[in-house]
Amino acid sequence: MAILFAANWKMHHGPEQAATFARAFKELTFPQPTRSIWFFPPATSIRTLALELDERPDVAIGAQDVHWEPSGAYTGALSIPLAQEAGATVALVGHSERRHLFGETDEETGRKVAALLDGGMRPLLCVGELADQRERGETEAVVRRQLDAGLAGVAEEDLPRVVIAYEPVWAIGTGKNATPDDAASVHAFLRSLVVDRGGPEDIAILYGGSVKPGNVLSFLVEDEIDGVLVGGASLTPESWTEIVGVGGGAAA
Ligand code: 13P
Repeated sequence: MAILFAANWKMHHGPEQAATFARAFKELTFPQPTRSIWFFPPATSIRTLALELDERPDVAIGAQDVHWEPSGAYTGALSIPLAQEAGATVALVGHSERRHLFGETDEETGRKVAALLDGGMRPLLCVGELADQRERGETEAVVRRQLDAGLAGVAEEDLPRVVIAYEPVWAIGTGKNATPDDAASVHAFLRSLVVDRGGPEDIAILYGGSVKPGNVLSFLVEDEIDGVLVGGASLTPESWTEIVGVGGGAAA
């Protein structure tokens, strides 16, 4: 299976910066069968990136969040059809910043996952525990609850279209990361839960949280880790190219 490299730009890079980034990225990389590259820019940059990277079969563009309703009076929200019209084919769901800064509930996360699959997009469902939950030994209970809620409305035959990201919240943007070994054991646990629901053994499970050019390989050598979801280190073409280069030949 190709390694999946996902860039979450969070609230950075409007259309102009996204276009400049995409042009540099195209010069620095070329498609490799060994890797897929997903970009999650702010909503206003989806269209620009989709057009700039249209000829890259290895690239998909995604939304950072979506609403489950297809249209209506939901000020500030992005619907699945609107995201698709802009060029998105994938979407993050339940990122810890949505859960903990914006109060997204497990139940809402589940609705979004189901709506994305119904609408023909692939969800990247994020799960992860807070520092105090880890200290209390609750990591597995927390990610199990998040996964169960996230997949509650998903039919067994749709599970292969879901991607999961394990992002321990204490490791996001902090420079602290889970050890590859610790992450791999949570991944194995998540995989077993997916298999229990009738899903595929080879479902893609990404690690996220302070992944950098200097540590990305230490995660990807773990069998259980199928890719990475990267915030800060995805924001410059140089750093991002170094990261995706681990998946097979970066330089053009
Ligand atoms: P950092 O890579 O900046 O820690 O962010 C991780 C993340 O939240 C990606 O979704």
